[in-house]
Amino acid sequence: MSIKFDIKNTGDFLSCKELEYFGPFVDRAHSMLHEKSGQGNGYLGWVDLPVNYDKEELERIKQAAEKIRSESEVFIVTGIGGSYLGSRAAIEALTHSFHNMLPSNKRNGPEIYFAGNNISSTYLADLLEVIDGKEVSINVISKSGTTIEPAITFRILKDYMEKKYGTLNAGKRIYATTDKSQGVLKKLADSKNYEYFVIPGNIGGRFSVSTAVGLLPMAVAGIDVDGLLSGAAKGYELYQKPFLDNPSYIYAAARNALYRKMKTVEIMVSYEPSLHYFTEWWKQLFGESEGKDGKGIFPAVLDFTTDLHSMGQYIQDGLRNIFETVLRVEKPGKDIKINEDVENLDKLNFLAGKTMDFVNKKALDGTMLAHQDGGVPNFLVKIPEMTPYYFGQLVYFFEKACGISGYLSGVNPFDQPGVEAYKRNMFALLGKPEYEKEKEILERRLYNNSQ
Ligand code: PA5
Repeated sequence: MSIKFDIKNTGDFLSCKELEYFGPFVDRAHSMLHEKSGQGNGYLGWVDLPVNYDKEELERIKQAAEKIRSESEVFIVTGIGGSYLGSRAAIEALTHSFHNMLPSNKRNGPEIYFAGNNISSTYLADLLEVIDGKEVSINVISKSGTTIEPAITFRILKDYMEKKYGTLNAGKRIYATTDKSQGVLKKLADSKNYEYFVIPGNIGGRFSVSTAVGLLPMAVAGIDVDGLLSGAAKGYELYQKPFLDNPSYIYAAARNALYRKMKTVEIMVSYEPSLHYFTEWWKQLFGESEGKDGKGIFPAVLDFTTDLHSMGQYIQDGLRNIFETVLRVEKPGKDIKINEDVENLDKLNFLAGKTMDFVNKKALDGTMLAHQDGGVPNFLVKIPEMTPYYFGQLVYFFEKACGISGYLSGVNPFDQPGVEAYKRNMFALLGKPEYEKEKEILERRLYNNSQ
């Protein structure tokens, strides 16, 4: 079994002919990826990663994870963007919905918290309160080492750890995942003797889930990383097939076909709360890869049925520039039977004997048809069940689609020059010495805006 992709719910919005038209362009994009001949070709290490990863490092990851699991009640993953979302997506999708709240004898591994993904003092102060008195290990993840959110957070956490354990012993509980040879985090790791893992130079953050970036936190959470990597390897095999036999390429072409019909917003929808961070990971993957040069599909995410009660109206009836990609997990992790109620005051006895997942699936089917009727074409991604294997396959499905889709829309999918603009302004306003000139200009603009 493998992940299935279905475009039947696009109704009149997409014909086979239109899709076939993309054939030569998809073939070209495929060659650009596999022959490394396109824009951003220095960042294509992820393409072969499922069959070409560092086995020795994987063993070290597993050993480090065992050590962390045996000596920690709390594990803090510190990173942002591509250095954060993949591991969070996997951990949320593949562990208990209330992992941190389970008693330790029922929980598989330490409590896991994420930090460095914002600059909120309240968030970090609250986290420090929550972990007080517990045994802690930290994984700090940053390819550049200079990203302000994890860097500030880690400075504070490092201080906390050194005060708690002493410098030497704190160093034995801090793990760095960063560039192999350069950057301040690498220097810090060397000087403090942290065990460190490598983010390969030829893999950008948002394509790094199946490297140490994702694998160490996942292994600490008790996730079968071998299963995940074998799912990714299956994806590698499946998603290099010729266009019309390749669901990942069909997805890439189909979304571009809709974009050309002014369907400029793609909403990824899931009916499992545990997939919320998977959709967040997808949002970053496509948003950062394609939104450039004045174009790009705007990726948004919604959790159904929750958001049908907040955004359902807009999707059904608002501006008609939307299409949807729906994640359907065929076999739920757990299911609950709906009981017969003698009084039947809630009038729900017509569901007695059915399961909650049965109802969830009917909600999905009904919503897809309603949205199709309302002018919102739907793609359906069918996942047999949410296991590490299918998670790995799913990640590769979307990574490959993203590379192809970016080349189809004529952008470099592997850079992110736009992200620098806010950083420059923030550093200037914070008084970083090399931005002195900009500081004056920006402050004048802020002053004028406030008048
Ligand atoms: O995909 C990307 O490249 C970004 O999202 C980065 O992962 C993110 O900005 C974090 O960068 P770094 O790992 O250098 O701290």
